Amino acid sequence: MSNRQTLGRSARRIREGDAVLMGNYARFPLLLRSGRGATVTDADGRSYLDFTAGVAVNVLGHADARLTKAIADQAGRLIHVSNLYYNEPQIRLAEWLVARSFADRVFFCNSGAEANEAAIKLARKFAKETRGTDCFEIVTALGSFHGRTMATVTATGQEKYRRGFEPLLPGFRYVPYDDIAALAASITPQTAAVMLEPIQGEGGVRIPKPGYLTEVRKLCDRSGALLILDEVQVGMGRTGSLFAYEQWGVVPDIMTLAKGLGGGVPIGAMLAKASVARVFTPGSHASTFGGNPLACAAALAVAGRLTAPFLSRVRKSGKTLVAGLVRLQKTTGQIEAVRGIGLMAAIDLSPAAPTALSIIERAAEKGLLLNRTSERTLRFVPPLIITQAEINRMLKTVSEILEDSQT
Ligand SMILES: Cc1ncc(COP(=O)(O)O)c(C=O)c1O
Repeated sequence: MSNRQTLGRSARRIREGDAVLMGNYARFPLLLRSGRGATVTDADGRSYLDFTAGVAVNVLGHADARLTKAIADQAGRLIHVSNLYYNEPQIRLAEWLVARSFADRVFFCNSGAEANEAAIKLARKFAKETRGTDCFEIVTALGSFHGRTMATVTATGQEKYRRGFEPLLPGFRYVPYDDIAALAASITPQTAAVMLEPIQGEGGVRIPKPGYLTEVRKLCDRSGALLILDEVQVGMGRTGSLFAYEQWGVVPDIMTLAKGLGGGVPIGAMLAKASVARVFTPGSHASTFGGNPLACAAALAVAGRLTAPFLSRVRKSGKTLVAGLVRLQKTTGQIEAVRGIGLMAAIDLSPAAPTALSIIERAAEKGLLLNRTSERTLRFVPPLIITQAEINRMLKTVSEILEDSQT
């Protein structure tokens, strides 16, 4: 897409924005103003089918009427009170999460990185108190993504995110993902926890082999290390079950959530079994905004929608999405691999295909927003309310782009 063509009347504001915003994002030159369902509209009045959903956040799409009303009602009643006191939406959301997961206790924060930061602190404190002061190491996977704070960027097993920020936090080890022998070899008496994404999202939707997570659980049980599952991207229905771990029958000790939890309102959560959570005592950890009534009311409105029929529709839509991508692979010959589970999918483009970036640019010209995890991998994480017709529209657009690139 030529910038001049796409920017239209937004161009001036984008330039003005660049003059005052930090340059830490490679932003696409689109100024988005409104949305409805799976469609967003820019400041020039052009509409786009949104297959990025704020990077796996807007599970109910944009401007969902019930979510909007829940936020407005709560804003009119009580936005924030701090954790000096209790508030009803926070208790109700914790009850909802505890009733539907392995966990007994919940800590609320504002983002995925903060939820993982809390998980790392809880695991270290638990290990030090129960296994000894030199037990603090956390093993994570290469290709993982856990956030951008100093602890979570250290936990992230991708050098590109850590470069320039050294010295990193001591006490982290990395192993290849989905390689149980490598993990077994890395666990020592100093290992406080193993921290993994059940499916690597930023790593390109990497789904482990059946049995991998079961073996990870066994290794943790044998060594006394805690199992932390980072469900920041895959939790809250994204994979077709409320939490991804349910699909493997593997129960973690700690789990983190964010992204879809508030349907777009910032909120994160760190959940744990009572036996582990007990080491967080008054003063151990805190967040000013964590679990405030506004964010929790939004999350409750999302939670109320993630019913069994809703999740069954996610699985059905996910099958349409993956089957369509596999069809594209056959018809275009420009896709090396297709991976997907629920409404989370990725394609690896063959060397002959255009780059992921050029496909994203062409898609935007055709009214479709796509996202990539690397030069050659496109990721599809639409709102969970995406329709079959919208999935087919996306597939048709990508097919046209790949076909055009061959002429
Ligand atoms: C698996 C996972 N963990 C953690 C994070 C960090 O979340 P946040 O950007 O909300 O801090 C992300 C963000 O992409 C993620 O995908």
